[in-house]
Amino acid sequence: MSEKERNYRVGVIRGDGIGPEIVSEALRVLDAASERFGFRLEYVPMDLGGCSIDKYGVPLTEETIRLAKSCDAVLMGSIGGDPRTSPWYQLEPSKRPEAGLLGIRKALGLFANLRFSVLYDDLKDACPLRKDIADEGIDFVILRELTGGLYFGEKKTETINGEERATDVLAYSASEIRRIAVKAYDTAMLRRRKLTLVDKANVLESSRLWRKVVGEVAKDYPQVETDYMYVDNAAMQLIRRPSQFDVVLTENMFGDILSDEASMVTGSIGMQPSASLAEGTFGLYEPSHGSAPDIAGTDKANPLATILSVACMLRYSLGEEEAAAAIEKAVIESISRIRTQDLKAEGDGTRLVGCTEMGSYVAGQISAV
Ligand code: IPM
Ligand code: MG
Repeated sequence: MSEKERNYRVGVIRGDGIGPEIVSEALRVLDAASERFGFRLEYVPMDLGGCSIDKYGVPLTEETIRLAKSCDAVLMGSIGGDPRTSPWYQLEPSKRPEAGLLGIRKALGLFANLRFSVLYDDLKDACPLRKDIADEGIDFVILRELTGGLYFGEKKTETINGEERATDVLAYSASEIRRIAVKAYDTAMLRRRKLTLVDKANVLESSRLWRKVVGEVAKDYPQVETDYMYVDNAAMQLIRRPSQFDVVLTENMFGDILSDEASMVTGSIGMQPSASLAEGTFGLYEPSHGSAPDIAGTDKANPLATILSVACMLRYSLGEEEAAAAIEKAVIESISRIRTQDLKAEGDGTRLVGCTEMGSYVAGQISAV
């Protein structure tokens, strides 16, 4: 690739709560990577969620969509506040911070959400599972469909015979299922070649279509072993024997729930990066965790999921694999020595640090390589 092509436009959504702090640390690491590996970056700031409501009265503006589309990739912190105290939650649902996130996913066509769960050797003591289970190793990715299903189906609340009745429709078309199934099989081909489709085909019509379409796509990937699992069983198996999973493919809502469970299995939700991909190479990268308004501004947040999301961005959108691997290595090195409070255990031999020191340390590791 010529030098000229290694110029990237990266959208930056700092967002709400701990978002600005963790994004600052992730950019510190990205800057170190650009310096070390010789590519150039242009950062394009944009608003989403609560901070957009404060400025423009809506959680997502046309301008943010336009700017995001002009970028090679977007890095995001987190959006949203405390629903019990934040004025954002006095607004109608379609004007709240979360609506901005759902809106940008749809507007940018980010249909495939990859959430990675890796138990690093150094974090085995932070894993809540029994030692013999943790020792089998945990390394899987959940591919969550992100622009369909219950989140985007028809919604209504009506009054029938004097009683309120609310409806959310769970609908999928075969093409929506097929495009993420292809992404999931391609992902499996680069990993341990095992794919588990998680659904509720014993009850839901939409799940039966998922099984049918995934079964068809599977024929193009004879090297990949395909497994089918009901979502209730999957929730249990994630704790009973997580080592059995490599690629988990599932619809939007199941993926939302299972990915939170999966993150805790590897020690902390503060370690789980995510990539939300469109057709082609464009993607939006964010930690799976939320905006943690209770610790915002206290320097307690763990920036590693955002830093690991930067590694995903370099790998999937910018094609800078070497820099991605260097960041992952630097993260592993850092957790063997220092930890933020979410990962710190008594007597684990590491030093307690804040968000800023963690970011500086990881950036320092990149520069030192
Ligand atoms: C996530 C979040 C969002 C979701 C919320 C904030 C709308 O929980 O990214 O997992 O449900 O998709
Ligand atoms: Mg969620």
